[in-house]
Amino acid sequence: MIPTLPSRSFPAPRRSVLKSGLTALFGTLICVYLFYCLINGDTWHIKDLKFDSVSFPYTKRPEATQFCTAEEYANGHWVRRKNPPSSLDEIRTLYGVKDRGRLECDPPGWPVIAKGRVPLEEPTHIERMLNQTRWKWAPRNDCHRWEMSEEAFVVRMLRSRAGLILVGDSLSEQHHEIVRNFLVSHGGPYQLRFTGSRPRIDEVFLDPNHELTQHYLRVAGVTAERLKNPITTFFLERHLLSMAEYDQVNSHVERYVPLSEDDGQHQWVSESLWDARYREQLERPVTFTVEEGIGENAKVAVQEEPTILVLNTGPHWIASEIGTHSVPDADVLKSYNNMIDKVLYNLTANAPPADLKVFYRATSPGHESCAEIAEPVVENPRWNVTSDREIYNWHLLQPFNEAWKRRISSVTIQPPPHRLDISYLDTWEMSLQRGDAKFLPPHDCLHFCYQGVIEEWQKFLWHEIVRESVNADYGMENREPVYL
Ligand SMILES: *[C@@H]1O[C@H](CO)[C@@H](O)[C@H](O)[C@H]1NC(C)=O
Ligand SMILES: *[C@@H]1O[C@H](CO)[C@@H](O)[C@H](O)[C@H]1NC(C)=O
Ligand SMILES: *[C@@H]1O[C@H](CO)[C@@H](O)[C@H](O)[C@H]1NC(C)=O
Repeated sequence: MIPTLPSRSFPAPRRSVLKSGLTALFGTLICVYLFYCLINGDTWHIKDLKFDSVSFPYTKRPEATQFCTAEEYANGHWVRRKNPPSSLDEIRTLYGVKDRGRLECDPPGWPVIAKGRVPLEEPTHIERMLNQTRWKWAPRNDCHRWEMSEEAFVVRMLRSRAGLILVGDSLSEQHHEIVRNFLVSHGGPYQLRFTGSRPRIDEVFLDPNHELTQHYLRVAGVTAERLKNPITTFFLERHLLSMAEYDQVNSHVERYVPLSEDDGQHQWVSESLWDARYREQLERPVTFTVEEGIGENAKVAVQEEPTILVLNTGPHWIASEIGTHSVPDADVLKSYNNMIDKVLYNLTANAPPADLKVFYRATSPGHESCAEIAEPVVENPRWNVTSDREIYNWHLLQPFNEAWKRRISSVTIQPPPHRLDISYLDTWEMSLQRGDAKFLPPHDCLHFCYQGVIEEWQKFLWHEIVRESVNADYGMENREPVYL
């Protein structure tokens, strides 16, 4: 039985729109339904989903052994696709990039200063995009993944207070762009709100007046109140700290000049916005439309999911942002560790007012001479960095990651009612293997091309989110053979 749709909350659009909307809606539901029956060999009653056996919060879903553990997902390798995409359209389809989404992977040596962004139709651009989308990530042991669909993503985020929040520098900005690529199209249900010319805050809301929004709310089982908070947000914060905290963590550095007395050296450090903002959003509870004790589906009450907070900071912990003089590595590492203290203190001792799942996403490596790397290095990739590569402290990125990994394993998890859980999302290996997929060789060997590596960070994140979800209706298992 398909869950009944509360028709009274359906707006009254023009007839034809209503009709085609309903057709699409039922079409989707029926497809989902049939797929579900197929993989379960059973008739699907929503009340049969095993909510009863799931105790809130954070009990892991009953897990088939063949699903990837985080360890298996992280430690795979890139393999050649049997049927690689052969056009930009196919790339869009393969990576789920909507019409407003960004495709880009600059050909080596493109004179970006003189000519700006490389046009999409430039032959060498297309060639490079095809070159590096020939590869797909294969987690270890042929394990299965949870695939991300737009609807599942939106529904999962609607059931949490503030959805998916990414905080970090331009690498996280790229990550968020991938999420937007996956959602935002002309005429779609999303509203973008930017704060700042290069947005410090980049939010994706659902448009309350869009028909699809009503559909998502119904499937999620949440009220329209939830639309006041975004589905996903990016905060551009290169150090994850307020200015006062930045001064504190660096105070041990010889000749450190506090930001308040600084003459403009610290152009990369701006006042922190994320902490106050997301705490405010977490104050708003999600209210659900299906209430316990009403009708046949009484026991189906949908549960609130934790908000997902993804943090990263790395390449901006450099001498030129800490002081005007050279700063020894040991001092930079000390500042960095002080920063981890502050962030973890705020998350634990000063815990936010709702369930929260935090992922620290590994900083990805820069690749020396990336223009000369033609293909992924999948067998024992060697991390090539020389410590004279001072710009953006590439040689410290792995020690930074190690510091987080160590510290996260020792964090005490908060008990209910508001539970906090923190994991390290290890995207290092999948990134290290892909020196061929850097954004602008040889000038930018740190960022990645759109389409490929960063999508995989997001897929990995999604897999982890579904694995840990409280409700059981997000997943399409990816049962395709890994070597496709
Ligand atoms: C695409 O890959 C081929 C084979 O590795 C290489 O010769 C060619 O230069 C690459 N094209 C671009 C634009 O990177
Ligand atoms: C920690 O919390 C304080 C007080 O709410 C806030 O000013 C600061 O920005 C927070 N810092 C971090 C790293 O979240
Ligand atoms: C590091 O550099 C060496 C020599 O240039 C190269 O063979 C190797 O593939 C590089 N490693 C990665 C991960 O790209």
